[in-house]
Amino acid sequence: MASSSQEEVSVEEEAVSKSNFKTCNQIAFYRRQKRLCPGKSLYRALLDTVELSHSHVKFQIVSEECKEPLLVEISEIEGNIFRLKINEKVPFKPRYEVPDVLIKEPVCLSLTVLQKDADKLVLTCADEDQQLHVTANPFQIQFVCKGEIVWSTNSNGLLYFEHLQPAPQSRYQENQDDLGLWEEKFGKFSDIKANGPSSIGLDFSLHGFEHVYGIPQHAETLLLKNTSDGDVYRLYNLDVFGYKVHSKMGIYGAVPLLLAHKPGRTAGIFWLNSSETLVLSSRTPETSKQRVLPQTDVRWMSESGIIDTFILMGPQPFDIFKQYAELTGTQALPPLFSLGYHQCRWNYEDEDDVEGVDAGFDMHDIPYDVIWLDIEHTDGKRYFTWNKEKFGNPERMQKQILMKKKRKLVVILDPHIKVDPLYTIYSQAKERGYFVKDRKGKDFEGICWPGLSSYLDFTNPEVREWYADQFAFSAYKGSSEILFAWNDMNEPSVFRGVELTMQKDAVHYGKWEHREVHNLYGFYQQMATAEGLIRRSGGLERPFVLTRSFFAGSQKYGAVWTGDNKAKWQYLKISVPMLLTISMAGISFCGADVGGFIGNPEPELLVRWYQAGALQPFFRGHANMNTKRREPWLFGEENTRIIRNAIKERYSLLPYLYALFYRAHKVAEPVMRPVWVEFPKELETFGIEDEYMLGKFKG
Ligand code: NOJ
Repeated sequence: MASSSQEEVSVEEEAVSKSNFKTCNQIAFYRRQKRLCPGKSLYRALLDTVELSHSHVKFQIVSEECKEPLLVEISEIEGNIFRLKINEKVPFKPRYEVPDVLIKEPVCLSLTVLQKDADKLVLTCADEDQQLHVTANPFQIQFVCKGEIVWSTNSNGLLYFEHLQPAPQSRYQENQDDLGLWEEKFGKFSDIKANGPSSIGLDFSLHGFEHVYGIPQHAETLLLKNTSDGDVYRLYNLDVFGYKVHSKMGIYGAVPLLLAHKPGRTAGIFWLNSSETLVLSSRTPETSKQRVLPQTDVRWMSESGIIDTFILMGPQPFDIFKQYAELTGTQALPPLFSLGYHQCRWNYEDEDDVEGVDAGFDMHDIPYDVIWLDIEHTDGKRYFTWNKEKFGNPERMQKQILMKKKRKLVVILDPHIKVDPLYTIYSQAKERGYFVKDRKGKDFEGICWPGLSSYLDFTNPEVREWYADQFAFSAYKGSSEILFAWNDMNEPSVFRGVELTMQKDAVHYGKWEHREVHNLYGFYQQMATAEGLIRRSGGLERPFVLTRSFFAGSQKYGAVWTGDNKAKWQYLKISVPMLLTISMAGISFCGADVGGFIGNPEPELLVRWYQAGALQPFFRGHANMNTKRREPWLFGEENTRIIRNAIKERYSLLPYLYALFYRAHKVAEPVMRPVWVEFPKELETFGIEDEYMLGKFKG
């Protein structure tokens, strides 16, 4: 196949078009919830509908505005976890419930009724010191431990639930008063909502808690900030080239897990929803006149789906990590080589370049394990192929150069597939109906690196199976057992698309709109890729897959990195809280591009970044195609020496790191962890984000 570079998209074009992301006021469901749910509970519980089974307590709630009841389901899950589900009792259509993230059906314990009348329901938990108090009017739930309220929900009256309804006659012409019910505009883009408004929301109050963490991914501080200024945390996976530091906007990945900590107790809220989600957090300090105790109020809003939350009761930080892993799984144990140093660049030009760089490491006595090939190694950005001129003999490159020294190769595989009937991956996927569809039922087409592309629908299990099979040596020509995978652009990135991603009215497997599954798309690609590598080895070898986009549970499939950072000091600094936050959300295998992806680092920044990166879980140097070459020996002898020492230090720590990853895999302890996690009683550690621990404090 000839390379069609004129059709391919240039970096400049991509970078320029990346200016247009929504602020929260440009998000219709945020405006609706703010306007229509100002914070006075409209809901009351009908406690005469209480049904108690061995695993759940169920009852109905109704609001003053909508008499159609909602069904509330409360359960206690083994291991000190509580689950609260709220859905329409009889939805007009089924609502999306996130599949494939929970690793098993949770084992529920029985709750017993201690008190039940029209106004109040009191349930005793497995641990008799713990009780759930349900107040009927206004509806709220309090969790009480030894007489003290630990958390409560709907105590600020922000429960919000848009019932699905039939489309009005004039659905696209209606005067929506800017509420974006059936259609929402953003610039030149229009989102046609097949199901109309479907947003949900709920508040939690965390009593006595002043310190909250989590909900990656944002380029923000370790401690979550107050959002009362209207700048809320957004969880919406987006391709943001050179994202801003200290911003709550959504970038590549999303894990809707929030942690709260105070001396003596850590708690967590896991909001299982894969549609666009916003998190608002406000703290009332102890000093405030109204309160004796500090409190943090957290409000969650999602565009669609159901309310499905897990409250993790700790009480210690490490209990939270275990509880979350009981639900979503632990970190996959990485193959040992992947904990070494990785050398990447967009791009290593050809086989000679790879050979030269590989030899450079030996010549300069710098250890490394993996060299990476970015998109230019392919035939016209057709993944699973090779550019014949530059990589004419990939087997030789792998076997004669890399494999001999026990080194590995990682190649990039993005989810967009070039529209080209002569490209087998495209033609097979097209024929089998494996692409995401537009709202009219045609294959969705958007622009990405190869030019016009369609997007594999990884939410479909059959597509994942087929994709996994593409990694078989017989299918992937020129691949070998030392070739591993990098999933990029899987938010998914769609150049010239709304917010550079897929429009929400695109349609996936099971007829679900993209809005329902958006934050899960990258999760599913990595799942299929990891499966492909496992299958290729006959189930014997651990896979290595790096993904840019992720969701809760991505830890089961490999590593993540923090995307397109810049070669600036502030990006080196923010990498620490960003990685700590990702680690607390279950994904231990994480890193940031060493040196900074965009721009040219001054030598001292590069050297310092190597020193920092050597102590972070995933350690890869990477650079954009417009940057100067920056292999570790290009900055003079002294800098080479310091970088060599940093990388060698990493290698001397490998057995320790590998053991930490084993613990992450077995007992869900984050490899890289904030200081407060090791010193949970020491208030002065709670905000530390420029130091961290690798493993336990052994005082
Ligand atoms: C964007 C990724 O974030 C970056 O790491 C990669 O080099 C480019 N895509 C090109 O594939």
